[in-house]
Amino acid sequence: MTDLITLQGRTALVTGAATGIGHATAQLLAQAGARVVVNHLHQAEAAQALVDGILAAGGQAVAIGADVSQAAEVQRLVDQTLAVTGGIDILVNNAGIIQEKAFLDTTEADWDRLLGTDLKSVFLMCRAVLPGMVVRGGGVVVNIASDLGILGRERYAPYCAAKAGVIGLTRSLAREFAPHQIRVNAIAPGPVATAMVSLEHMSAEWVEKELATPQHRLADPAEIAASVLFLCSDLSRFYCGQVLGPNGGSVMP
Ligand SMILES: NC(=O)c1ccc[n+]([C@@H]2O[C@H](COP(=O)([O-])OP(=O)(O)OC[C@H]3O[C@@H](n4cnc5c(N)ncnc54)[C@H](O)[C@@H]3O)[C@@H](O)[C@H]2O)c1
Repeated sequence: MTDLITLQGRTALVTGAATGIGHATAQLLAQAGARVVVNHLHQAEAAQALVDGILAAGGQAVAIGADVSQAAEVQRLVDQTLAVTGGIDILVNNAGIIQEKAFLDTTEADWDRLLGTDLKSVFLMCRAVLPGMVVRGGGVVVNIASDLGILGRERYAPYCAAKAGVIGLTRSLAREFAPHQIRVNAIAPGPVATAMVSLEHMSAEWVEKELATPQHRLADPAEIAASVLFLCSDLSRFYCGQVLGPNGGSVMP
């Protein structure tokens, strides 16, 4: 890696990092030299295995469990992170859930759970982390949205609304915090081979539809992590409020 993409000396907090895109991101940021905080939700074993792998490769990492949809849990996560690291330079808001349901069957509880995890968590994490970045004189936030937040998708209204909200929140924070040398950007991935795109969460019909892109394939999580690394690095220092689209061609603006 060139010096431009070294994250040596920086601390990165990645939410929902025990699996999937968050897991690949934590691994890649650690490989680039960052000290990584691996947040997880009740996946202590998987998170510790990731941390152990990073440590064995000569990197620095620690696992901290917390539900990022709950304000008190977010504050505890950030307080514990600061106690261990002294400061947060990079925040990757990756944690998320998905639900397939006809709109007219969608309950208020479904809406609150989805929006709480996929959108409110980004608000809570940014509210807890940005003050420290302002004091430190800079930082980077990368929010994981989705191509579905741009395209919309039948039977996924709350998810699409949440991810569109993440894009709006990203652009607003990018404008508000640019004067503090804090860069806020988003990534809107297309279909990625993780647990989220599985029969556990989607009907076979929709898993098949996920493949309907020009490249006709699911991404490997590492292909999304590469975009996160770029946005975290100094290579992207003129990126502000942008939405990168590693999506196999699902969206061509
Ligand atoms: N897989 C895809 O096709 C795809 C496409 C576009 C965007 N995304 C987004 O990428 C992100 C990562 O998803 P993934 O595909 O890696 O799936 P995943 O299910 O492997 O990862 C999501 C992670 O978030 C964690 N999480 C859920 N709720 C949480 C909470 N309240 N607090 C803390 N952690 C929580 C889960 O435990 C899990 O480890 C999500 O935001 C998702 O919406 C995924």
